Amino acid sequence: MNQDELKALVGRAALDYVPEGAIVGVGTGSTVNCFIDALASQKQRIRGAVSSSVASTARLQSHGIRVFETHEVERLPVYIDGADEIDGSGCMIKGGGAALTREKIVADLADRFVCIADASKRVDVLGRFPLPVEVVPMAAAQVARRFAAIGGTAKLRVGVVTDNGQQILDVSGLAIADPLAMEAEINQWPGVLCVGIFARHRASICLLGTPEGVQTLSF
Ligand code: A5P
Repeated sequence: MNQDELKALVGRAALDYVPEGAIVGVGTGSTVNCFIDALASQKQRIRGAVSSSVASTARLQSHGIRVFETHEVERLPVYIDGADEIDGSGCMIKGGGAALTREKIVADLADRFVCIADASKRVDVLGRFPLPVEVVPMAAAQVARRFAAIGGTAKLRVGVVTDNGQQILDVSGLAIADPLAMEAEINQWPGVLCVGIFARHRASICLLGTPEGVQTLSF
């Protein structure tokens, strides 16, 4: 099975975690696109979705799935999203698609986070994938200097403006041994809107696509 087939496999498997009549939290990315396409075949079973990006909203609506705003819901039973990396305790790096801030906002509304990913995303220590950080443009240079001071190299994602009108720094060279502590630290730097470490909002389940089938990891 190639990577696209593995993404399709876990996208379909995630349907089992969508309760009858639910409004479901929906992430962003190529794996989530597979989930959205699978969800379309069962759209009568749900009330709708809360989306984490303009792109996912457009895809959901193209399938005739109703998209609710965050202020229209109090809690969501489940949030389903991909990851750029996931470690052995369900902590993730996210934001490869620049949607990290809204992803964290929607994840925060959900009772559980179901991560869908192909096996290449599973790592022992987070940090091989450059860490995305959404920053207010005015603070980009000083945030980059703070990363340099802890051994990271921050590069501006040129030409990318997020759905929130901000910029993305991609930070390489970090070995994120303590994701919870690093997430809390970076979150405090002035000008950081969101860091792509999802430790406080870690996955409780990961559906990992492997050549042998879907492996379910619980954290
Ligand atoms: C979007 O900003 C990201 O957090 C994605 O969830 C992540 O990059 C995974 O994307 P793919 O499913 O496309 O690999």
